[in-house]
Order: sequence, then structure tokens, then C-alpha cells
Amino acid sequence: MPSIISADPTPAADRRERSDRYARPDGSAVRLRSIRPSDGDELLALGDRCSDQTIYRRFFSPRRALTPDELTRLVTVDHHDREAVVVIIDARIAAVARYDVTHPGTAEIAVLVEDAHQGRGLGTLLVDELVARARANGIERLEAETMADNRAMLAVLQRTGLRSASALTDDGTWIVTLDLVR
Ligand SMILES: CC(C)(COP(=O)(O)OP(=O)(O)OC[C@H]1O[C@@H](n2cnc3c(N)ncnc32)[C@H](O)[C@@H]1OP(=O)(O)O)[C@@H](O)C(=O)NCCC(=O)NCCS
Repeated sequence: MPSIISADPTPAADRRERSDRYARPDGSAVRLRSIRPSDGDELLALGDRCSDQTIYRRFFSPRRALTPDELTRLVTVDHHDREAVVVIIDARIAAVARYDVTHPGTAEIAVLVEDAHQGRGLGTLLVDELVARARANGIERLEAETMADNRAMLAVLQRTGLRSASALTDDGTWIVTLDLVR
């Protein structure tokens, strides 16, 4: 399948409320924008469309219902220490990625692309966007926890072209650290 995403044409400055279009070969488009507090229902619907494997790879646990507080936290970000971006396709959230600062200068990232849209460049698009936003906010490192057999996520991280270091955890997952400074 051909790549559906063109390069981001806009500068990094103040992407917060931006809503860009990305051309697809068939003439339709996907849109990337910041998450909004009103996205709760759409985020739940996204989860319902995902396979159990996709949910497990994202949350490292089987599917379960989110509490209202958890959902509120997922859709409420400060655009500095906590950021989240979504891709809209056909008026639905098809993918979401976020970072949360865990220590000064370090944030953890997580990405979810619904099964029907995986392998089409959305994960790469979202991680590139998070890298740009994190840099603009002075974050120096992004950490991603991924299962050892998650070749798609490992490829997405490698495609950033950033210097990286990987550490194997006792649980058999990898923590990949991307260096945003050098
Ligand atoms: C991991 C994930 C975010 C990747 O997003 P994506 O949109 O599917 O990935 P992309 O289309 O941007 O592909 C990026 C690279 O991964 C490769 N890739 C995609 N799917 C793959 C697969 N199933 N197996 C191996 N490589 C794969 C692509 O070929 C591409 O590499 P290339 O440039 O060398 O060709 C997505 O598959 C997903 O949401 N998975 C479930 C949740 C998850 O694993 N999250 C990560 C932990 S938080």
C-alpha cells in the first residue's frame, strides 16, 4: 500500500490548535490536530474498533473499561508537560499519540493506530509530530515502552532518525529512549 502521508509543511511554532490536512493518493485527506476535552466518546469508539492485540500492545494489559477519571485524563492535556495529538479520518479519530513528562526533561510516549489504518504511515506521522512538540517545549528525551516483538513500533522509532538507546526490562519489554538534543 502506498504511503498516505505527506511531510508536515508547517513550522513547529505553536502547533497547538492547528488542524492540518495531509493528502492521500485517492484525493481524500487525513487531519492531525491536538486532542480536545470533547473527544472522550470518540476515543472510546476508537478503542472499540481496535483488536485485542492492538489494545494489549498499547496498554500492556487486556482490554478493560476506562473509568470516567481515566478518560478525562486522556483527553485533558496542558500542551506542555502532557500533550496528545489525534488523526481524523472520515470524521473519526483513527489514531492517537501522547507524551507525558515523567522526570524533568524526560517524557514517555505512547501511540495507538486503529487496526484498519495500521501500516499506512500514521504512527510515523504522529511520532514525528510529538517529537516536534516535545522539542518546542524543551523536552530532551522521549521514552517509549514497547514489546520486544513489536516491529512496527520499533520501526516507527527508528524512522525518526534520532539517536536512541534501548534497555530491556525485567518484563521483557524494551524501553527505547530518543535523544531530542543531539
Ligand atoms: C505500532 C504502531 C503505532 C505503528 O503505527 P503504524 O501507523 O502502523 O506504522 P507506520 O505505518 O508508520 O509504519 C512505520 C514502519 O513500521 C513498519 N510496519 C508497519 N506495520 C508493521 C508490521 N505489522 N510488522 C513489521 N513492520 C511494520 C512499516 O513498514 C514502517 O517501516 P518502514 O518505513 O521500514 O517500511 C501501530 O501499529 C499500533 O498502534 N500498534 C498497536 C499499539 C502499539 O503497538 N503501540 C506502541 C506501544 S505504545
